[in-house]
Amino acid sequence: MAYVLHLDASPRGERSHSRRMTRAFVERWKQFHSGDRVTYRDIGRNPVPHVTEAWIAAAFTPAEQRTPELKQALRISDELVDEFLAADIYVMGIPMYNWTVSSGFKAYIDNIVRINRTWAYIPEENPEFPYKPLVHGKRMFVISARGDGGFAPGGRNAQRDFLTPYIKEVFSMLGVTDITFVHVENDEYGGQKLADSIATAQSQIAQLVAA
Ligand SMILES: Cc1cc2nc3c(=O)[nH]c(=O)nc-3n(C[C@H](O)[C@H](O)[C@H](O)COP(=O)(O)O)c2cc1C
Repeated sequence: MAYVLHLDASPRGERSHSRRMTRAFVERWKQFHSGDRVTYRDIGRNPVPHVTEAWIAAAFTPAEQRTPELKQALRISDELVDEFLAADIYVMGIPMYNWTVSSGFKAYIDNIVRINRTWAYIPEENPEFPYKPLVHGKRMFVISARGDGGFAPGGRNAQRDFLTPYIKEVFSMLGVTDITFVHVENDEYGGQKLADSIATAQSQIAQLVAA
């Protein structure tokens, strides 16, 4: 039995493509893996807080030395990290805003990239890249939605896709390297262009889940 963390970052409801696609993914997943447990987190409708001065002070204070105030500053981050570490599979719906992840998803990243919980700083092991991953054996499926198209390699917007490389980089620093992307494009055009992109994403999801 695996534990699936299903997360949506779009602030939109039914109009959100990423939200509809993660739901389709997870519903299909449950048909194939009926014993799996799914936890749902909606950071689009219930945003997580940005880091604060107290948060930073607390995160870089050893756990046993934290005052009640510092512990309180990390309460939500601790909850998010516990949830992230407990899951085996991540299914994350992320809108592209201004060529990268939405600020809501960035706030989530800032909360789960936590020193000595999801990564460690060990320059003695590797002075060139002292950030040691602490998260192992996870699979991640990212379903992103974007208004324009042409983001695939060689496409007219390929150099503007800062979402895909950013997610790969930041999650690989934690040790999550098995990441599969599905993209819905052309929201701003609608019509057949959008319908074709949705159909392609749906068929990719069907193949991914069946595999
Ligand atoms: C604030 C904002 C910024 C956006 N920036 C981009 C962008 O840089 N490139 C793009 O292709 N689409 C952009 N879009 C369009 C969204 O990516 C598109 O509507 C997508 O479908 C949103 O995801 P959702 O359908 O899951 O809500 C932007 C939309 C908003 C609201």
